[in-house]
Amino acid sequence: MDKLLIEGGARLAGEVAISGAKNAALPILCAALLTREPLTLTNVPRLNDIGTLLGLIGQMGVRIEREGDRVTLDASALDNPVAPYELVKTMRASILVLGPLVARCGEARVSLPGGCAIGARPVDQHIKGLQAMGAEVAVEHGYVHAVARRLKGARLFTDMVTVTGTENLMMAACLADGETVIENAAREPEVVDLANCLVAMGANISGAGTDVIRIRGVERLHGATHRVMPDRIETGTYLCAVAATGGEARLTGTSACYLDAVVDKLMDAGCEIVSERDAIHIKAPARLDAVNLRTSPYPAFPTDMQAQFMALNAIARGTAVIRETIFENRFMHAVELQRLGADIGIDGNTAVVRGVDRLQGATVMATDLRASASLVIAGLVAEDETVIERIYHLDRGYERLEAKLLALGARVRRIVQRVD
Ligand code: UD1
Repeated sequence: MDKLLIEGGARLAGEVAISGAKNAALPILCAALLTREPLTLTNVPRLNDIGTLLGLIGQMGVRIEREGDRVTLDASALDNPVAPYELVKTMRASILVLGPLVARCGEARVSLPGGCAIGARPVDQHIKGLQAMGAEVAVEHGYVHAVARRLKGARLFTDMVTVTGTENLMMAACLADGETVIENAAREPEVVDLANCLVAMGANISGAGTDVIRIRGVERLHGATHRVMPDRIETGTYLCAVAATGGEARLTGTSACYLDAVVDKLMDAGCEIVSERDAIHIKAPARLDAVNLRTSPYPAFPTDMQAQFMALNAIARGTAVIRETIFENRFMHAVELQRLGADIGIDGNTAVVRGVDRLQGATVMATDLRASASLVIAGLVAEDETVIERIYHLDRGYERLEAKLLALGARVRRIVQRVD
C-alpha cells in the first residue's frame, strides 16, 4: 500500500486547477443507465471511485469510452441489472444504480453497501421511496431486489436529508408514470448538477436545489452532453491547505458560489478570499484564529469539510468547538492528529480543539477519504517529516494530489509499495 511522505513547513503559493466533482460525476454516470442513447460527460475526474463505478456499470453491459476527462457511456445493450457485492462493498455510492436500473429494466439486484468507517449509513430511505413508487422490494441474502413493471409517480418524504437518496429517487422518477414530489430533498449542488444533466436528457424536473423537487415522468430519455461541476470539497481542501501554511494561491476552474459556509469560516479564521468568475484567490495570515463549526446539510457547513477544519483549528490561535451532526463516527482523524501533537478532546459528536503552537511530524494512518485530507493538511505544517499510511483513501477522491501540492510548493513524495 502506498504512503505519502510530507516534509512540513513549506508555505503554499501559486495556482492550482480544481477537478470535476466526484460526488456529481458518480450519480451522473448512473444516469446513463436511464437511456438507450449515448451520454457524453466532460470534466470527469480520474479517481479510483470513478473507475469503480465504471467497472460496475461496465459489467452490466454498458459500453464505455474514456479519453482524458471525457467519458461516453452507451447503455443500449444493458442486459444485467445486477450490482454484485464484490464491486459495491468498496464504494457505498454504488447504491446509485438502484433507482435507474428499476426504472429502465423493471428490475434490479443491488448488494447492500454495508457499513463504512464513518458510520452505519443505511439505505432504508432509498428503499422506502421506491416502494412508495410501486416497486416490490425484498432484502434477501444481502441484496436489495426491486421489481416494478413501471414505477408510478408518488409523493415521497425522506425521514432525513439524504444526498444519494434524493439522487436515486429523482433518477427513478424520471421514467415513472405521473408526477413524483420529493419533499425534504437534499439541496446539495451535486443534486442540481444531476438534475441539469437529466433535463438535458429530456427529463421534466423542477425545484432541484430546493427541498421540494417535482419530477414529471416521461416515456424515455435521450442522449446528451454534460460538463460535470467543479469539486467543491476538493476546492475547500486546497483552500484549507493554503490557509494552514499561511500561503497565498489562486484556485482555478471552480467557484466560491458552492462554498459559502466554508469561505465564511475561512474569513472568520482571518483569511482574505476574493471570488472571481471561475476562480478563487486566498491569502492567509501567518496564524489562523480558531473557528467553531457545526456540520449540517447544504447550504450549511459540509460534513466532508469537518476533518480539514479540525486540522486548521489544531494549529490556530484559541479553542474551537466542532459538532458533527451527519455521521455518528466521523472523528477518527482526531486520534491521528493527536499523534502529531494536536490537543483535541472528544465527547460524543462534539470535539474541542485547543490550538497548539506547532505540530510534530509522525507516522499516521488514513482512515477515510476526508480524514486523510486532514492529515495531509496537518503534515504540511508539522515540523519534520510526516508519513501517511493507507493513502488509497486519498486516491478515491483527490485527483493528482501530489502533483497539485508540488505545484504549490509543498514537499511531498509518494512511496509506492508493491504487493506481490
Ligand atoms: C453523500 C456524499 C458524502 C457526504 C454525505 C453527506 C456522495 C457520493 N456522497 O453521501 O460525501 O458525506 O452525502 O453530505 O454524494 N441515512 C439513513 N438512511 C438512508 C440514507 C441516509 O439513515 O437511507 C443517513 C446516513 O446514515 C447519514 C445521513 O442520513 O447519517 C446523511 O447521509 P446521506 O446524505 O445519504 O449520505 P450519502 O448520500 O451516502
